[in-house]
Amino acid sequence: MDLDLYWNNRFLSQGMIWGQSPSKTVYNAIEIFKSFQVKTVLVPGSGYGRNTKALSFSFQVDGIEISHEAVKLAKDWDPHSNFICGSVLNEPIDGKQYDAIYCYDLLHLFLFEDRIRLIQNCSKRLKPSGIMFFTCFSDEDPHNGVGRMVEEGTFEYVEGKIAHFFTESDLIDHFRWGTLVDIGSTKEILTYNDKSTKEYILRFIIVRKT
Ligand SMILES: C[S@@+](CC[C@H](N)C(=O)[O-])C[C@H]1O[C@@H](n2cnc3c(N)ncnc32)[C@H](O)[C@@H]1O
Repeated sequence: MDLDLYWNNRFLSQGMIWGQSPSKTVYNAIEIFKSFQVKTVLVPGSGYGRNTKALSFSFQVDGIEISHEAVKLAKDWDPHSNFICGSVLNEPIDGKQYDAIYCYDLLHLFLFEDRIRLIQNCSKRLKPSGIMFFTCFSDEDPHNGVGRMVEEGTFEYVEGKIAHFFTESDLIDHFRWGTLVDIGSTKEILTYNDKSTKEYILRFIIVRKT
């Protein structure tokens, strides 16, 4: 199934899938972005805007999102951000550059070539000395190793859905063109809109464009 079709179906049937609260990582990002005097932020894979809503209190925020159903929800939930329907895997065409990028749990959804394309496209959209904050699945997450291995560290953990599970050194390698500001691990508890919860072990990386 095409990725946009998959996400459209999910947002259409489940609405605000992960509830209304933002990820707690967004608060770290806000603190760091403020310390770097950030004014403009790009959020690739912005979903229905649960994270942009926290960011747009302090910054001017654009979200890029492949699912038009998610964009519809996001425009209602976070009217202060600007949402663009499109794929971050496509070459940026408008030439706009941002002070910072916050990208939550998008990177692990792709195979190696597309992960590199995503990071390169984000880098093109970042001003010189701009800062990137990415989160992704960790190899320490219990889903790692579940299902068919499609590439080194990448598994079809749910039928038709792949995820890459990052070791720390693998994550550093993906961003080796920049200056590492910080890297770490965090436990995320997602509360779904039916109130069920699920725990994930994530890694985050903060990199400055050099
Ligand atoms: C795991 S969800 C995370 C959503 C959001 N960051 C959040 O935490 O609420 C991944 C999101 O990325 C979007 N997405 C997937 N592939 C994309 C692409 N190539 N370009 C832009 N968005 C994409 C999906 O539609 C979905 O909203």
